[in-house]
Amino acid sequence: MKAKTRELWDKQNQHERDRARLFTAVAGATGARSALYPGSYVDLAPSFVFPAVTYVDSDKRAAAFFEDDDGIHELVAANSGPDHPEIRFFHADYTTDLDLSSEAFDLLVSLYAGFVSEHCTAYLRVGGSLLVNPSHGDAAMASIDSRYELEGVVVSRSGRYRVSRSNLDDYLVPKRPTEITADLLHESGRGIGYTKSPFAYLFTRTE
Ligand SMILES: C[S@@+](CC[C@H](N)C(=O)[O-])C[C@H]1O[C@@H](n2cnc3c(N)ncnc32)[C@H](O)[C@@H]1O
Repeated sequence: MKAKTRELWDKQNQHERDRARLFTAVAGATGARSALYPGSYVDLAPSFVFPAVTYVDSDKRAAAFFEDDDGIHELVAANSGPDHPEIRFFHADYTTDLDLSSEAFDLLVSLYAGFVSEHCTAYLRVGGSLLVNPSHGDAAMASIDSRYELEGVVVSRSGRYRVSRSNLDDYLVPKRPTEITADLLHESGRGIGYTKSPFAYLFTRTE
């Protein structure tokens, strides 16, 4: 493994295997086998869990990381990942056409990387899941997107993750009455303050 790959991974993985635990919980709840991760940076953890993952990022450090094919396969093996993981990386802006087939993925991942759901839902199969956290407003964006329905929340406790499907009506309730629109979310670039704050949400693509 290249020294730079190790350095980038050690920084990404400061909370040892935290993301591996997250994606393990999501895989268990959704049964997903393939994932698309726009704005992944160097978060390789989905490949410890899912047999086929496509990563997209415009950052050149991410491109250098994924270019180290031996290095990333070494990391997957060291984390008990699948034997022959399919790992693809697009050094690209996810708001542009990614030359991917529509409805090709079981899972779309949106973590701290802007409005992924707005630009990449076409690549997620109907019936597939969107994993999205609230920080950049993309969870709120998905909540007003008619293609999505809330299917669960990902709760985190002491570094462990669990998907809950109970009392979903209690979630995505704004603390202050707000008319949530795409324009409002674009302008603020931040999420909406909700009465409950799970780590992330799972939405199903229904249409
Ligand atoms: C804060 S990092 C989060 C990385 C990773 N999702 C995680 O949770 O560890 C955001 C990443 O999204 C990428 N990003 C943001 N907007 C993007 C876009 N339009 N196209 C491609 N990558 C983008 C940035 O380059 C950066 O690497």
